[in-house]
Amino acid sequence: MIQQSWRSVVLGWLCLEVLLLLAGQGFAIAQVQRGVQARRAMVVTAHLLASQVGIDILRQGGSVVDAAIAVQFALAVVYPSAGNIGGGGFMVIRQQDGRVYALDFRETAPLRAHRDMYLDSLGNVIPGRSLYGHLAVGVPGTVDGMVKAHQRFGRLPWHRLLEPAIRLASEGFPLTQREAAKLNRFREKFLQYNRKPPPYVRPDRPWKAGDTLRLPALAVTLRRIQQEGRKGFYEGETARLLVAEMQRGNGLITLEDLQQYEARWREPIVTAYRGYRVISMGPPSSGGVLLAQLLRIVEDYPIAQWGWMDWRTLHLMIEAEKRVYADRARYLGDPDFVRMPLRGLLSKSYLRERMRSFRFDRATPPDSITFGNPYRYESEETTHFSIADSAGNAVAVTTTLNGPYGSFVVVEGAGFLLNNEMDDFSAKPGVPNAYGLIGYEANAIAPRKRMLSSMTPTIVDRDSVLVMVLGTPGGSTIITSVFQTILNVLDFGMTMQQAVAAPRFHHQWRPPWVYYEPGRFTPAIRRKLEALGHVLRQRRSIGRVDAILRLPNGILEGGADPRGDDTAVGW
Ligand code: GLY
Repeated sequence: MIQQSWRSVVLGWLCLEVLLLLAGQGFAIAQVQRGVQARRAMVVTAHLLASQVGIDILRQGGSVVDAAIAVQFALAVVYPSAGNIGGGGFMVIRQQDGRVYALDFRETAPLRAHRDMYLDSLGNVIPGRSLYGHLAVGVPGTVDGMVKAHQRFGRLPWHRLLEPAIRLASEGFPLTQREAAKLNRFREKFLQYNRKPPPYVRPDRPWKAGDTLRLPALAVTLRRIQQEGRKGFYEGETARLLVAEMQRGNGLITLEDLQQYEARWREPIVTAYRGYRVISMGPPSSGGVLLAQLLRIVEDYPIAQWGWMDWRTLHLMIEAEKRVYADRARYLGDPDFVRMPLRGLLSKSYLRERMRSFRFDRATPPDSITFGNPYRYESEETTHFSIADSAGNAVAVTTTLNGPYGSFVVVEGAGFLLNNEMDDFSAKPGVPNAYGLIGYEANAIAPRKRMLSSMTPTIVDRDSVLVMVLGTPGGSTIITSVFQTILNVLDFGMTMQQAVAAPRFHHQWRPPWVYYEPGRFTPAIRRKLEALGHVLRQRRSIGRVDAILRLPNGILEGGADPRGDDTAVGW
């Protein structure tokens, strides 16, 4: 079995190599073959070691949720820029009988937070305050989320799910080229926001690929979570260390915040699309609502007939994206705090009304207000993983510290990174956050409120049979990346690997630009879209989709995004 799994990994690498080679030479994406294939189960994550942990847990008789929990903890070790115990996320689950569930372990604003906490005396947003250091941190949700997922869907004992992460943290693991470079890039930030240099800073020289990163303090914290469950994080020594860290850096989180934190089961957003059922995350993520709106809009048009590279397909998708992101800014927030017109937002008649201004011969004029560059980050971090088995059980998890390495604050003595999720609130009505997203009252800061997310963990099935599991990091671009990947498979007939590798684009209403990766927007298409009035901006990679497709013969195909170290491991 182990040999089989290794064969899958090697095949996966080969596939990605071929893919990159082809992309580099400008070949059409259609030449890329299928991703890793396996009969019994598939795990696709941002890191080979985490994918292997997931498969090992399934081999031991664990459920897909057990595997997801073990992967979440493993990523907190081997993928520190987004994997976490000091952040939050969302889990969408499909059971083999077709029942679906959604778990919200999003961070909350601390009790001492208030709506103007990032404004100066003149009412202007203080740059960076919601992004870096102790004030940027929301109350972490990951550990309670994993505990709640295990209580409901766990099969193996809890302690076994923590063991691989503890081993990786205490024994250490080799850094990939990408992670080594990223740690070096952010070295100064780690030094700036921590009293003592954390283990992510190498004292003697820059990190290089193959160096071993050991995280002994994190291993001890994980051991406490292993032995005490929720209490091992939200009470006792870990909580004491976290609060002491907050006090050192003038952060807001108290013991009361930690004790009060609760992950919540939510109703997933379920929509029909051309005979498929698409299940995704509802508020406090905007992901499921916007994905459903986008799918319901394009369903009225024959995009498969027009084709993947046809200007009409692209123009329609861009115009739909503009409109749904405008809705996001106005209406969406934490369902425990705001009433949202979800039925209206998702109704066909409302969406048709929204598209009444859509014209084939011109772009809807962009708003005259200009915004700053939303892509201040090196990349939009967050990470997604997909797990599925042959019986049709599936889990899609998107989890995050928000920016790369979150707030850069590592809890002294406890060894884990804290998020900077407070930036996902609207610090001031109409002022964009790090992703260029704006918001109003619905996403204003309030104690215990969850900040609006774009994370879109998604599962697709049809006639009671699992079809696809997917999601991605990418901040505001998450929703449009998931949308395009679904269309790539369902409308344009791509394999899973082709669909995740295919170039992507993004429009979020404000700023009034279409961002695109090279490859799909040929010079002729660019000329056509510009003639219609679209303003195009090429940018580096958009998202890192990790996905699984169940083929008609029951084989599972992993799609691991070649934009990162992402790896599919099959069984
Ligand atoms: N922090 C990114 C998101 O939740 O959308």
